[in-house]
Amino acid sequence: MILYFSATGNTRFVAHRLAAGLGDEALDLLDRIKRDDCAPIHSDRPFVICAPTYVCEMPRFLSDHLRKTPLVGNSKVYFVFTSGGYSGISGVLANHLMRRKGLRYMGCADLTMPRNYIANDHYPELDTPEIERRIRTATEAVDGIAAAIRRGERLKSRHVWLAEVLITLPFNPVWVRVRQGVGDFHATDKCVGCGKCARLCPLNVIEIVDGKPAWRGKSCAHCMSCIQNCPVQAIEYGQITQKKKRYLFEKYRYAARENDNR
Ligand SMILES: Cc1cc2nc3c(=O)[nH]c(=O)nc-3n(C[C@H](O)[C@H](O)[C@H](O)COP(=O)(O)O)c2cc1C
Repeated sequence: MILYFSATGNTRFVAHRLAAGLGDEALDLLDRIKRDDCAPIHSDRPFVICAPTYVCEMPRFLSDHLRKTPLVGNSKVYFVFTSGGYSGISGVLANHLMRRKGLRYMGCADLTMPRNYIANDHYPELDTPEIERRIRTATEAVDGIAAAIRRGERLKSRHVWLAEVLITLPFNPVWVRVRQGVGDFHATDKCVGCGKCARLCPLNVIEIVDGKPAWRGKSCAHCMSCIQNCPVQAIEYGQITQKKKRYLFEKYRYAARENDNR
């Protein structure tokens, strides 16, 4: 059973391609996370958990959800992380989490995919050839991962240094509190009140008030689901996102198909 969360489609693509390669099913955890539904998940086959990387680790709302959700049946658990190039300490935390659950951590794989974070100016926007190149390379790698899992092998990722763990663990919550407020999110006049942003928000931060989204609370995961999936590009984050192209994997899915046609 492949379990995943995905805001902009990279991880969804990986999860479904792995499912096809393994002849297994993929389960989107979004609804369960939204409802805080932690009912046990059963699988006779090894679990494969696919997640994006947020601030150098797997999203905390996802690790919290996995902590609370019993995974029963097969005790082997693989992880596959997507990132914009640095998956940080995701694997170390995944290993720790699985040990605490009494499950067998089977290693993790990292896939560099297009970066979906547009709410700051630190990262240059990727051009289309680079986005396509990353998707093609990741697609090939996913097929290799599926083959390794089929053979029952452990997955090997890069070595994580202790310093990375010691820096990331305290840095992540501070960054989230200071840099990931919700105050700057807003809907412009283009908003058609479809409510898609609220339906896709994993943390239920968005409420539709008088037909428009309103962001509640002090911080969110900044997963970019609302801003990137808005069908009329009506959501902005302050002024930072005004001139930025939106990213969804679906727009570039053709690059993955190119691998299949070779
Ligand atoms: C809040 C946030 C934080 C992120 N932090 C990192 C990071 O630390 N390192 C990195 O390489 N990519 C980072 N990214 C990029 C995503 O991990 C990457 O684009 C991922 O493939 C998105 O997956 P999705 O399309 O399934 O949502 C971040 C993205 C978001 C939204």
